Formats: sequence, structure tokens, C-alpha cells
Amino acid sequence: MTVDMEKIVSLAKRRGFVYPGSEIYGGLANSWDYGPLGVELKNNIKNIWWERFVHRRDDVVGIDAALIMNPKVWEASGHLSTFSDPLVECRKCHSRFRADHLGFTDAQGKILTRAGVACPECGKKDWTEPKQFNLMLKTFLGPAEEAANIVYFRPETAQAMFVDFKQVQDTTRRKLPFGIAQVGKAFRNEITPGNFIFRTREFEQMEIEYFIAPPKIDAEWQETFEAWRKEMWAWTTNDLGLQESHIHELDVPKDELAHYSKKTIDFEYDYPFGKKELYGLAYRTDFDLKNHYPDPPYKDPKTGEAFYPHVIEPTWGVDRSVLAVLCDAYTEDKENDRVYLKLKPRLAPYKVAVFPLLANKPALVEKARKIYEDLRAEFVVAWDDRGNVGKRYYAQDEIGTPYCITVDFETLGEESGKDTVTVRDRDTAVQERVPIEKLAGFLREKISRG
Ligand code: GAP
Repeated sequence: MTVDMEKIVSLAKRRGFVYPGSEIYGGLANSWDYGPLGVELKNNIKNIWWERFVHRRDDVVGIDAALIMNPKVWEASGHLSTFSDPLVECRKCHSRFRADHLGFTDAQGKILTRAGVACPECGKKDWTEPKQFNLMLKTFLGPAEEAANIVYFRPETAQAMFVDFKQVQDTTRRKLPFGIAQVGKAFRNEITPGNFIFRTREFEQMEIEYFIAPPKIDAEWQETFEAWRKEMWAWTTNDLGLQESHIHELDVPKDELAHYSKKTIDFEYDYPFGKKELYGLAYRTDFDLKNHYPDPPYKDPKTGEAFYPHVIEPTWGVDRSVLAVLCDAYTEDKENDRVYLKLKPRLAPYKVAVFPLLANKPALVEKARKIYEDLRAEFVVAWDDRGNVGKRYYAQDEIGTPYCITVDFETLGEESGKDTVTVRDRDTAVQERVPIEKLAGFLREKISRG
């Protein structure tokens, strides 16, 4: 991957995609705010995801659960005892790191090497023993800060789908196989967050817990796993438009699997800082439902037999999706001296921008304004009348607006161009004249195809 991370961070900040959080107070380490364009891009990703995996399927329903749950949830799920990373501290400068990130240990904390690992901060090689650090973010509920009031921000959205499984099944009468989907925030007290929005302590997930009958042979769960693997590829390449060659599957080795998983595939993306996890797909067996329900929560409608369904879990990080989309879309067009975001039109914050050729000609402004207002009924539209048209194109290219409409003197004239406008394509920079009355249909067609 050739894109430079600094260019992405700088564009994101300058154009209002992502800002450093709490900046006027000196920031808060690794916290980021999505600005006006970032929230549009992020919402587009979440909405397209919901449309694809919930609305367009009849075997998946959604929930939106409270993000602070009864602490017993985290006891039962194993998070309080096992959701931890190995931590080491440099004895000289007291910087803390994940031991596995430095190559000291594997992700479970098993020591691989102690030899010669220098502190990335001060260069010394004097470390504390690795110890397991729990990632659950704690707070107190209610006015008294005492042990009985300790609660945790959820570290994954997944557990609510298990805890609410029976209610969802009772109210929707779904038969296996079916899935429960949720999009929402998750919190982890990461030891070493970083790489912009890649690893933060507060982030968003889109998850599906897909319940199947207990498999009699491996091929039964493997079939569902395989179907979701294909779905994840389709999402990544068709919906997000990421280049297939930038995505890699990693079959997670048995000794690195999370405590609940029998098999996991990580989908990795070629970020500017290396090949790292984008999404995951796991076979969680009946681990979770067994932890939460003393009695089997599902009855086969035909046989009346009660049992614990098994779970295939595809999981997507929203923020990592945003980052991958920005990196993949970032294009330097040296020939035309411009930078553009080659975003899928459905993902672009603005679908179209409307300009009057000149801001000081009221007839042009009035006509352009009318087009802008009309298109806004259906599309997210930008208005720009500053500077010259070239600069406006440049500005819209940089934020990925796929089409720019200019109202010029031909639009107002009496010749064949009357009541037509130029529509300029972001990627080719080619302009064509389109009748005003056909604009909405033209855009609708292009956006649905893109
Ligand atoms: N329910 C399973 C689960 O939470 P995970 O691999 O720990 O699995 C799922 O997380 C996804 O959430 C990851 O693939 C990644 O996209 C995102 N994610 C995890 N930790 C993150 C963090 N600290 N910052 C941003 N995204 C994160």
C-alpha cells in the first residue's frame, strides 16, 4: 500500500472527517471525533450494512441494547476473568506496552523471548515481568462509588444478542437458523491504542450472532461459516469497494484463538502501517448461550426437543471500515494536479455538488439554488459559490463528491443548451450536458450503479 498515513490524517482533519477529540483542551490521548463529513461516511457504512444484512434478509433481526449491562453478564461471558492482554512496563521510563506487540509473548501472555527487546520510547532493555491486564472499562452506577455499584461498559456488542436471545426468539418466533444483529459502541481499556482510528478505547462494532442447530458433524457448522465468509467478502469488495488484493484472510492459529472460539478467520487489510485486522469471523459453539442460560433456551418447534443453539459470529469494526475506505479511496492524480477520494457514490458524504458559474450573477445563482433545493429532497447535496469553478472541483474531489453540477450562461440562454447544466464526473473529470428535468433520474441511476 502506497498511501501515506499522514496524508490521510491531515485530509481527515482539514476537511472535517475526523478531528482529534477534546482538542481545545489539549486533546485526550487516542480519542477522535467524527466531523460533518465523517459522520456522513460512517452513517452511510452503517446504513448500507443494516440494509444488506438485516432488511434484505429474512433470517436476521436487529436489536439496540443498553451498553451498560448487569455485571453478571461479564462474569458469565468470561470477560472479567479472561478478557485481558499481556502488559509490560519499561523500568526506566515507565512506558507500558502490550508484550505481544513487542514480540515478548503470544497474545495469551506465554513468554516467547525476553532477549534484546528495546523500549520503543527510551531504547532501554529493562522490563517488568509480563502480567495480564483486564481490558474492561469500569465505572459506577448511582451516586455511591462502592464495589457494589461497579459496572462495565460493554467490550463487544455481542453479549446482548446472547442475553436477549430468548426474548427475541419469543417475540419474533424465529426458527433456526436465524441471526440477531446490532450496531453500537464498545469500550476497551486498550494498553496501546494508536494508528489514528485503528485502535481506540471507544469504538463502534457491527455484529451478527447467527444461531444454528447443534451440528452433528463439523461440515454442518462449516457450511454456515463458509456462507458468512462469502458474505464478508461481498460486503468488503462490493459495498465498501475495497480492492480485493488489499484484503487477506488469516486462519487464526489454535493457540491464539479467543477464549470462546473454535475457529476464527481474521480479515486483514493492508493499512499504511501494515497488514492488520479489519474484521473477524468466529465459530463460538454453544459457549455463550450455555454460560448465560441454565436451561436450554430454544425448543425445536417440530420435535419439542430443547437445546442450546450454536453460533457463527461475523463481526465488523465501523472505525476500521472508515479508515480502510479512506485509505483505499485516496487517489493522487498527478497529471491533473489533484487529489480525489474515489469513494463508491453510496458511501460519499455528498452525492452531488451544485454551483452557479459566477456568484455575482443573480440569474445564475437563482437557477442553481432552485436545482440545489429540488435535488435535496432526494440526495445529500453540497452548495458552493466560492472562488472559481476549478477550485470548487478540487475541493469536492478531495471529499469524494462523485458529481458536480454547474449552472452556466448556456443554462439561461435561448440556444440548444437552455435548461441544461454540466455534470462533471469526479473520476474521469469529463463533463456532459444534462437537461435539468433529467438530473434526478441521471443521478439516481449513476448512484445505484456505483
Ligand atoms: N464479538 C467479537 C469481537 O468483539 P474482536 O475481534 O475483539 O471480536 C471485533 O472485535 C472487531 O471490532 C475487530 O475486527 C475490529 O474491527 C473492531 N475492534 C476491536 N477492537 C478495536 C479497537 N480497540 N479499536 C477499534 N476497533 C476495534
